[in-house]
Amino acid sequence: MSIPVTVVILAAGEGTRMKSRLPKVLHPVAGDTLLGHVARSAAALDPKQVVVVVGHGAEAVHEAFAARWKALAPHIPFSVVVQSERRGTAHALRVTEEVLAAVTGTLLVLSGDVPLLRPATLRHLLAVHAATGAAATVLSTHLATPTGYGRIRRTSDGGFDRIIEERDATPAEKAITEINAGVYTFQLDGLFDVLARISNDNAQGEYYLPDALRLLRQDGRRVEVLLHPEAEEVCGVNTRAELAAAGAILRRRKVAELMAAGVTFLDPATAYVEVEVEIGMDTVVYPNVHLEGQTVIGEDCRIHTGARLVNACLGNSVTVRDYSLVFDSRLDDRATVGPFAHLRLNAHVQEGAVVGNFVEVKQSSLGPGTKAMHLSYLGDATLGAGVNVGAGTITCNYDGRQKHRTIVEDGVKIGSDTMLVAPVRVGAGAVTGAGAVVTEDVPPATLVVGVPAKVKKVLS
Ligand code: UD1
Ligand code: CA
Repeated sequence: MSIPVTVVILAAGEGTRMKSRLPKVLHPVAGDTLLGHVARSAAALDPKQVVVVVGHGAEAVHEAFAARWKALAPHIPFSVVVQSERRGTAHALRVTEEVLAAVTGTLLVLSGDVPLLRPATLRHLLAVHAATGAAATVLSTHLATPTGYGRIRRTSDGGFDRIIEERDATPAEKAITEINAGVYTFQLDGLFDVLARISNDNAQGEYYLPDALRLLRQDGRRVEVLLHPEAEEVCGVNTRAELAAAGAILRRRKVAELMAAGVTFLDPATAYVEVEVEIGMDTVVYPNVHLEGQTVIGEDCRIHTGARLVNACLGNSVTVRDYSLVFDSRLDDRATVGPFAHLRLNAHVQEGAVVGNFVEVKQSSLGPGTKAMHLSYLGDATLGAGVNVGAGTITCNYDGRQKHRTIVEDGVKIGSDTMLVAPVRVGAGAVTGAGAVVTEDVPPATLVVGVPAKVKKVLS
């Protein structure tokens, strides 16, 4: 059962410690941005609406979020509000007052820099919040090294007392290992009145959102803490090192998920798989394979060592041999590529076709059963079915100004080292001799040879 909730994502901060021109929340990690990962978790809750608070790099963050959200949950409304001055997390939440004026119920506040939270954990937080009837519930965890986080101070009977930021903490408070994850649920009723009462009388001169919990308690309202056992999920990303650590965790989780769904990884430790990748059952992934972007792989495929697939779409029983690169390209059922093949820009290798060693295929289609086994460049070419491309064949597609297409019809045999000078068409069943330089269209069922290639004979 999903609990109706409105989500606010705080993402206005600069991320000074990243030392970057890029706003922190737009840093890519494991196939999405930091903010994208938070958006994914938010979308999984099927919220009533999502509000993102932007500030640093507002326009870029707004644009990136809008694009991501439309892909994730086009049916759920979102809005973006600008916090023009970064005066702290409480101030950031205050700027949503206008867009949330008519909204009641439960609010979930997430940080754009906490990308590892699982939807299940957020659901648990919402369930505890609802069950206890609290005005606010905060997620916490124990960290061996809590440096930098706000500490949860408990009352003598173990209840919530208040949160102390690192820079305001006494040495005794710094020794507390239970930290504020920066993830909260609030009852919207009266929340903005409480936020308005928060002062910036602290070491950083900022309006701290955690102070809302202290004020609620002072008002006699109930504040709960949900202690989460998995510290790793709660980690914020403030530095490049933390960004890398978060990426490793996201990819490890992804591989575990795929294994649970029936994919074999011969060496999970060296598989680099981004979060959007899909893989069918009984596919085997060898060591040191990179699967990136929107790559989709069917069932019973073999992806061998060193392969890198980016936005690749593979059918079933496809083999990608060692050290092949496949970018933005499609391999249909039973196709084979590599070793050392390079496919890019909408290459399409159709059913059972073979692209072999040191072959580059760009914006070209190879028909069913067609083979280009060795040392070729096929650019801007359409090859029919059952074509055999001899070693060293090159489509001369570029005349220095423009790209031209090469058409090779069904059943053609291209001799080794043939130069196909585009635009050019080789008719069905034609044959080119080794070393031919084909500058003119070849009629069907004809043998051409030489430089430039001339008709030698008409084939029966
Ligand atoms: C915050 C919490 C801290 C908690 C930690 C967990 C406060 C005061 N402290 O500290 O208790 O342990 O998160 O990760 O909240 N932001 C804005 N506008 C602002 C300031 C921040 O939108 O004016 C956003 C940031 O982009 C970020 C989030 O709020 O996504 C948290 O801010 P950050 O400065 O990273 O807070 P921390 O110091 O990590
Ligand atoms: Ca942070």
